[in-house]
Amino acid sequence: ISLKTYNTFGIEVFCQDFINIVDESQLPILFKERKFSSKFFVLGSGSNVLFTRDYDGLIVRMGNKGITHFIDGNFIYITAKAGEIWNDFVWYCVEHGFGGVENLALIPGTVGASPIQNIGAYGTELMDVFYSCRAFDTIVGKFTTFHNRDCIFTYRDSIFKSKYKGRFIITSVTYKLHLHHSINTSYGAINTELQKRGISSPTIKDIAEVVSYIRVEKLPDPSTIGNAGSFFKNPIIPTKVFDELQKMYPDIIFYTVDENHVKLAAGWLIEACGWKGKIDGNVAIWKNQALVITNLGNASGSDIYITSSRIMNDVYKKFGIMLEREVNIL
Ligand code: FAD
Ligand code: EPU
Repeated sequence: ISLKTYNTFGIEVFCQDFINIVDESQLPILFKERKFSSKFFVLGSGSNVLFTRDYDGLIVRMGNKGITHFIDGNFIYITAKAGEIWNDFVWYCVEHGFGGVENLALIPGTVGASPIQNIGAYGTELMDVFYSCRAFDTIVGKFTTFHNRDCIFTYRDSIFKSKYKGRFIITSVTYKLHLHHSINTSYGAINTELQKRGISSPTIKDIAEVVSYIRVEKLPDPSTIGNAGSFFKNPIIPTKVFDELQKMYPDIIFYTVDENHVKLAAGWLIEACGWKGKIDGNVAIWKNQALVITNLGNASGSDIYITSSRIMNDVYKKFGIMLEREVNIL
């Protein structure tokens, strides 16, 4: 079947076999049928993948739904099935008055994918609210639970992208939120927008709305313009290397990570190389955000991959920094 509507880049590729999971009980059956003994790939909304060729294996698409919660003391435990749309989950929390994920409003994709790269935006990361997840081990054929510390979350990374890459199928995620939540307006862009709106003591809902507004302004809507959000990670470099760079480029945008590390805004580096808004055949760099690569309509996955390599080369030549792709390449 065609995967064109199953990836937000809108790339037309075909897969050999496809199964939609609506209940986790399908997984042990597939295991018995030895479906996981040959090539397979787990897909949520396809908003962080780039298909560069047809997929000669089984696509396991997570479509199981349901959200439940219970309150215990000062905490709310909310469990959402993997196929739930992340933003629907965020609004479930907002409507119930549960704070903690409002800064992550409007991130595309599914609940099941949220721990994979420890999604983050506007001052919050998934690891701040992740309690545990239930996952099917495709090697052993059994369900298991991962707690927060087991996942080794760091910036845009987890154990599911490293040691356990491609092994576990996450079927549900439990989040732990505080009943007495304090609003997080640490990200500059949120403050600016709140001020514009004359909001001095924002509610959880205000934050979700402001974040959604900022995102729509900055990022292309994948339903009309094919993209996968930031194509690259923001590079983390040693402070010593940064000090030298800053001497040459005093305007360079950075965030202090710890005593010895600095995170750079890759968008700034790419823009400084002249790529912002640039068209490269069937591919364009988004005019409002140089970290986002878009499909002009007829791009193939390799067109996009080639453009990303050109950007990496230019950034390396100018700054000596090798960008790392955030998007999962297939
Ligand atoms: P997919 O793209 O389908 O899969 C991504 C990876 O997760 C793949 O390796 C896949 O195998 C694996 N996977 C998916 N589901 C499961 C599962 N149930 N079990 C095991 N493995 C699984 N990301 C951010 O962090 N912050 C942002 O602000 C952000 N903004 C974005 C803006 C736009 C416009 C777009 C298009 C993307 C953005 N992203 C952002 C990236 C993307 O939204 C996230 O990575 C999201 O979590 C991907 O979810 P998905 O369901 O589409 O995953
Ligand atoms: N900037 C530029 N030029 C650009 C883009 C950005 O100079 O073309 C500058 C901005 O002016 C700003 C700084 O870079 O000073 C940061 O920009 P922005 O706030 O847009 O965030 P980002 O660092 O580019 C990251 C995440 C996004 C997330 C936002 C908000 C990564 C790789 N990207 O982008 O996540 O939504 O912060 O928190 O960490 C994603 O992962 O797909 C994604 C969209």
